[in-house]
Amino acid sequence: MDKKLRIDLQKTPKHVAIIMDGNGRWAKGKGMNRIFGHRNALTAVRESVKAASQINIAAITLYAFSTENWNRPKLEVDALMSLLISSLKKELPDFMENGVKVNAIGAIESLPKKAQKVLSDVIISTENNTNITLTFALSYGSREEIVNTIKNISKKVVNKEINIEEINENTINNHLYTFNLPDVDLMIRTSGEQRISNFLLWQMAYAELYFTDVLWPDFRETHFYDAIIDYQNRERRFGKTSEQITE
Ligand code: FPP
Repeated sequence: MDKKLRIDLQKTPKHVAIIMDGNGRWAKGKGMNRIFGHRNALTAVRESVKAASQINIAAITLYAFSTENWNRPKLEVDALMSLLISSLKKELPDFMENGVKVNAIGAIESLPKKAQKVLSDVIISTENNTNITLTFALSYGSREEIVNTIKNISKKVVNKEINIEEINENTINNHLYTFNLPDVDLMIRTSGEQRISNFLLWQMAYAELYFTDVLWPDFRETHFYDAIIDYQNRERRFGKTSEQITE
């Protein structure tokens, strides 16, 4: 049976976040350098977005570059930035055809100017697309995001725009980089590592976590659907009892 047909379209996650890991190991396994692995990661990006958009997933967020990734060798950082620029340009017609709205989270101002410009052009060009929101986490770190959020809320308290007593979870949600996205329902990490690595810590409070040994450049539509089927077989209780959920 077609794997996609096993998916209950009424119960798909609203927001899937992916830690795309294993590019370096994939390349090394082929006797190539790490950059070769990153270049071969784009098919997996394309297939995941396509798969998600076919089963009513509203948002997909990809961890493309972490705040910690700046510590990698300059050659690799430069290659990742060039890849970001060239792939955003190349994919724009497909984003338009498939109704993909592009979004970005992270310390975007720390990216090279050229990357910021291409990113902003693609975000503007796709802003009226409604099929799926594709968010790139770039120069992103969840702790940095939370610090930034606290600063912004504090400024509003000082300016008397917000009363301390009124601060609640919604206030925080509305000041995170992800203010316009739903909570993460499912987080997928490839390559066998079982860590969250400073990704969407607040937003993943109730997320289901799915780990697969598949290296990111080998990740395809079929692996994405495996994750969704696994997710649908879990019982999400949000702190309630199993009986309360099934009632
Ligand atoms: C992790 O693999 C991957 C990254 C740090 C970068 C992710 C980038 C891409 C998937 C390239 C394409 C993305 C865009 C947005 C153009 P790793 O290098 O840590 O692999 P390793 O753990 O095997 O060394």
